[in-house]
Amino acid sequence: MGRTLIIGACGQLGSELTVYLRSRKGQDQVVASDISKPIPYIADGPFEELNIMDKDQFLKILKKHDISEVYHLAAILSAKGEQNPLFAWQLNMDSLLIVLEAAKEKLIEKIYWPSSIAVFGPDTPKDQTPQNTIMNPDTVYGISKQAGERWCEYYHHKYGVDVRSLRYPGLIGYKTKPGGGTTDYAVDIFFKAVAGENFQSFLSKDTELPMMYMADAVRATVSLMEAPTESIKVRSSYNLAAMSFTPEEIFHELKKIYPDFKIEYTPDFRQKIADSWPNSINDNVATREWGWKPTFDLKTMVREIVTQMTVEI
Ligand code: SER
Repeated sequence: MGRTLIIGACGQLGSELTVYLRSRKGQDQVVASDISKPIPYIADGPFEELNIMDKDQFLKILKKHDISEVYHLAAILSAKGEQNPLFAWQLNMDSLLIVLEAAKEKLIEKIYWPSSIAVFGPDTPKDQTPQNTIMNPDTVYGISKQAGERWCEYYHHKYGVDVRSLRYPGLIGYKTKPGGGTTDYAVDIFFKAVAGENFQSFLSKDTELPMMYMADAVRATVSLMEAPTESIKVRSSYNLAAMSFTPEEIFHELKKIYPDFKIEYTPDFRQKIADSWPNSINDNVATREWGWKPTFDLKTMVREIVTQMTVEI
């Protein structure tokens, strides 16, 4: 087995995954890459500046570092995608096909590619959304993730590509901020609460969405990638769940720690995106096939993040 390459390593998930994988495999075994300069958090290991739309550059990096496994995390998220739909489609799709083609040509052995709850749409059953159901996403991000899932399955069945994927719920971390997502309010709210400022929510108080603490997301990703090939039956993407909550519920959890904390609800265009997504996800298939089990719920996540943020200030 050669080294691991992370594409989008300066992002919210990429940065934490890089640190975790380096601690597991060894600092030199995990090459971080991003279109931007390395952030300090990941700067202490190998790094390459990479625009994943540049296929030649990508292929050079694979060779230079003897890469056998790629985590392709670069994407335009839901809210940002609506501002430039054609660019979002192009980036999200073309980059995936570049990576899948490299695996088809046997230049790499294994791929991780994230999907999202955004593959679901207004016609999808909202509660305990099953693995296989009506999807009909209506954001460009969701359309690109659904099409990407189809491509992953296609490359697996047709060319034997070992590609694995998870449909992430909203991911909540505090180390790096996300950019351009609809679930991001649940990250921003921590920064305001800890700074002693009031919070303006761009989603209404009763908008329930599936969410997950970053530590669980990183663990899920690596367990999926380390699971034996024969247990991975789903080659589109697995439903994945940990908790669901509304802006009002997370606000109340934070108010227990910061009694003066205040929230105001000013829904914007992101409300429509959130309304098209499920309230909760059924992830029984992931549990059955590779043993997925979350460890954080809303209460334990809020305590953990606030503790970590206040220690680090
Ligand atoms: N968290 C993402 C977003 O809000 C969904 O996968 O865009």
